Amino acid sequence: MNGTKKIALLPGDGIGPEIVAEAVKALEAVGERFGHGFEMSEAPIGGAAIDQTGAPLPEETLALCRASDAILLGAVGGPKWDDPTAKVRPEQGLLQIRKALGLFANLRPVKAFPGLEDASPLRRERIAGVDLLFVRELTGGIYFGAPREEGTEEALDTLVYTAPEVKRIVELACTLAAGRKGHVTSIDKANVLASMRLWRKVASDVAAAHPEITLEHQLVDSMAMRLVTEPARFDVVVAGNMFGDILSDEGAVLTGTLGLLPSASLGDGSGPGLYEPIHGSAPDIAGKGVANPLATILSAAMLLRHDLALEAEAKAIEEAVSAVLADGLRPRDLGGEAGTSEMGDAVAAKIGEGER
Ligand code: NAD
Ligand code: IPM
Ligand code: MN
Repeated sequence: MNGTKKIALLPGDGIGPEIVAEAVKALEAVGERFGHGFEMSEAPIGGAAIDQTGAPLPEETLALCRASDAILLGAVGGPKWDDPTAKVRPEQGLLQIRKALGLFANLRPVKAFPGLEDASPLRRERIAGVDLLFVRELTGGIYFGAPREEGTEEALDTLVYTAPEVKRIVELACTLAAGRKGHVTSIDKANVLASMRLWRKVASDVAAAHPEITLEHQLVDSMAMRLVTEPARFDVVVAGNMFGDILSDEGAVLTGTLGLLPSASLGDGSGPGLYEPIHGSAPDIAGKGVANPLATILSAAMLLRHDLALEAEAKAIEEAVSAVLADGLRPRDLGGEAGTSEMGDAVAAKIGEGER
């Protein structure tokens, strides 16, 4: 690796600071084992940023991110900022940073860890072989329409997708599927929504140019059902912004907990990517030292792989997480007793053991 790599840390709210601190331990352990220096700088986002500056994504935070090689984020939001009449909300910070950095693709891999089969609410035989990748469109759709909320009688959001937006995300899904099982499931609601009929048509056109890929279309409602009845049959699942958000939380629970699912938000490669767990700020357990840091630690592994091209280092983190779980250490959400820092320390120690 050439030179010191810069990583922006955006801990955010709720459990965000607790879990990012554990991912930093993993990155430091990787740096030590593989001889890399990571320069990590912290900046506020979300509710913490609103409290400090009045804005959910301060200019200085965005500037730090732009000047970094990669970004690691905890989570934003919480009851303190949930006033429905508020002009600024923590979640806007997240949407703004995704949009500002052009991070149109959100990759959310779901894989069952060996030894955790019984942590899933689904029967062991349904979980066997689950290995799917959600590819969620992240800078378009109903999240970025033209909302109107005036008065108390009516409010509206608009759902727009353009053909180029659909094309680039389905292209990426096909490319990723080509390196996996070669199957893409495209999610829509083409039986009701015009924007989703466009989505389906463009997806078919893109897949037609990839003969190595098999494409199927699934309506989002029955997909929600299939995800729990036959999860092992899916490979790459591509969806618009909101359907991808909802289905990936459902998918996360297949592995036993939301606390295990990492994500990478990527653009065209010209700037940094953003890495974060798919779960939120978990206000119900914030400050108690019991949050599961593994999704954030696994997000740090994705950061090393996708932004810094450090594949062996990424694997070292993933193997350390597997080894810690195989040893039987479990955080609360997986039915165990281990606290946030105990989990993080155990992963960092495993990474260090790889040296010997
Ligand atoms: P959530 O994901 O924060 O929590 C849902 C449930 O899962 C809670 O019971 C929580 O305790 C548990 N949970 C989540 N992460 C966990 C972890 N790492 N370890 C153990 N348990 C964990 O969703 P929510 O409660 O619907 O939302 C809370 C806040 O988070 C809201 O303000 C929401 O907007 C925000 N949010 C932020 C992000 C993000 O920053 N990317 C994502 C989702 C939700
Ligand atoms: C996520 C979250 C965000 C989203 C919210 C907090 C804006 O749920 O990252 O999945 O809906 O994208
Ligand atoms: Mn979500």
